[in-house]
Amino acid sequence: MEKFVIRGGKPLHGDVYISGAKNAAVALVAATILCDEPCVLENVPEISDITKCLKILKEMGAKVELLDRHTIKIDTAGITNPSVPYELARTMRASCYFLGTLLGRFHEAFVPMPGGCDLGDRPIDQHLKAFRALGATDDIVNGNNHVRAEKLSGNQIYFDFVTVGATMNAIFASVKASGLTIIENAAKEPHIVDLANFLNSMGADIRGAGTDVIKVRGVEYLKGVTYATIPDQIEAGTYMVAAAATGGDVNICNVIPKHLESISAKLRKCGVNVVESDESVHVWVDGPLMKTSLKTMPHPGFPTDMQPQFSTLLTLADGTSIVTDDIFDNRFRYVGELRRMGADISVDGKVAVIQGVGKLHGAPVVATDLRAGAAMVIAGLAADGVTEIDNIEYIERGYEAIDEKFRKLGADIQRVYRPDADSVAMSG
Ligand code: EPZ
Repeated sequence: MEKFVIRGGKPLHGDVYISGAKNAAVALVAATILCDEPCVLENVPEISDITKCLKILKEMGAKVELLDRHTIKIDTAGITNPSVPYELARTMRASCYFLGTLLGRFHEAFVPMPGGCDLGDRPIDQHLKAFRALGATDDIVNGNNHVRAEKLSGNQIYFDFVTVGATMNAIFASVKASGLTIIENAAKEPHIVDLANFLNSMGADIRGAGTDVIKVRGVEYLKGVTYATIPDQIEAGTYMVAAAATGGDVNICNVIPKHLESISAKLRKCGVNVVESDESVHVWVDGPLMKTSLKTMPHPGFPTDMQPQFSTLLTLADGTSIVTDDIFDNRFRYVGELRRMGADISVDGKVAVIQGVGKLHGAPVVATDLRAGAAMVIAGLAADGVTEIDNIEYIERGYEAIDEKFRKLGADIQRVYRPDADSVAMSG
C-alpha cells in the first residue's frame, strides 16, 4: 500500500494534459461485448477501474491487446458464457454494465450484485425496469443478478428519475433488440453521448443522445471500429479547482470546454479567472476567493463528482457557502477529514454549510472515496505544512498519474510505500 505525502502552499503553474474519461471508458470497454468484430479504443485512461474492466473481459474469454499505454484492441468473439467472475466484479459498480451488454448479446447475464458502497445504497431498480420493458425477466441466483429474455423487443422506457447507469444499460440492451426503443427521462452526461457515438460508428442507430429522449432502432450486426474516448470532464474540473485553491495559473489542455461550463461558471462566481479556448481552459487567480452556493444536478448541472473538490475550495473563500448534494445518500463523508485540516463545515443530511477559513493546515487524512480523495489532494496542495493521504488506491481508480501531473505543475507530492496498510477500494 502507498500514500501521498504533500508539502503544500505552492501555487500551481504550467500546462496539464487531461486523460480519457473514466466514466465513458468503462462503458466503451463493456460495449465491445456487443461488437461482432474486434475494436480499437484510443485515449483510454491508465487507471485501475479500466484495468479491472479489462481483466473481467479477459477472464470471460476476450482477447485484450495493449497497443500502447492508452490504446487497446479488444476482441470479444471468444466470450461464450454470459457470467461475470465474482472476485473482479464485486468491488466495481461499473460491472453492472455487463448486465446490459451480455443481455444484449446472449439474451442472458449473470453479474455479481455490487457489494457495500462508499456513496450509500445504490439500487439498480431502474436498470431492471428497462430490461423488463424490453422483455427480460430477472432474479437473484447465488448472489448474482440474473437477467434473461427469449427475445428482446423495442419498447418505451420511462425512468422515474435521471440515472446514468440505467440509461447506459437501456442503450446496451436495446441496440440489437428488434424494433424501436424510446428511452425517456434519459441522462444527458457527455459519457452517454460518447457511448452512443461509439455504437453508431459500429453501425447502431441511436438518436437523441445528449437530450432526455433517446431513440434506439435495433440492428443485427455491429462492425469493428477504432474510436477515441472523450477527455475526462471531472479530471479537468479537479485540476481547475486545484489551480484556484493554490492561487495558481494553469492551462488545462485536451479538454472539451463545453463539458466544463457548469464548473467554469461556479469558479467565476468565486472570483477565479477562467478563459476557454478550442481545446483548453486557462484558470488563474488574481484576487480573493469569494463564497458561492451550489447544488449538484444531473448534466448539464453541476456534477456530484466535483462536489468534494469544490467544497474544499470553498473552505478557502471569504464568507459562508451552502452546498447541497442529494444525488447520492452519502457524499459528505470526507468532511471529517477536512475538519482535521482546519475547515469549518457542518453537515445536515445532504446540505453542507461551509464557513471560509482562509487557510487549511496539513494533517494525516484518509481518502474515503475517489472524489473525496481528489479533494484531499487539493486540500493538501493548498494547505500549510505536510499532508499525508492514506487509501490512495481510491484515487487511482479514476485519476491517471495524479502525482506526476501535479509535480509537473510545481507541486511537492510524493508517493510513499506504507507497509502496514490494508484496504479495498470500492469502485464507482
Ligand atoms: C454514475 O454512477 C457514475 N459512475 C458516478 O461516478 C456518478 O457519480 C453518477 O453516475 C452520477 O453522475 C459511472 O459512470 C461508472 P446514477 P451511477 O445511476 O450510474 C439512484 C465517480 O466518482 N439510482 O446516475 O451509479 C442512485 O442510487 C462516480 O466517478 C437508483 O435509485 O449513477 C443515485 O442516488 C461515483 N436506482 C442516483 O440514482 C437505479 O436503478 C443517480 O445514480 C439507478 C440509480
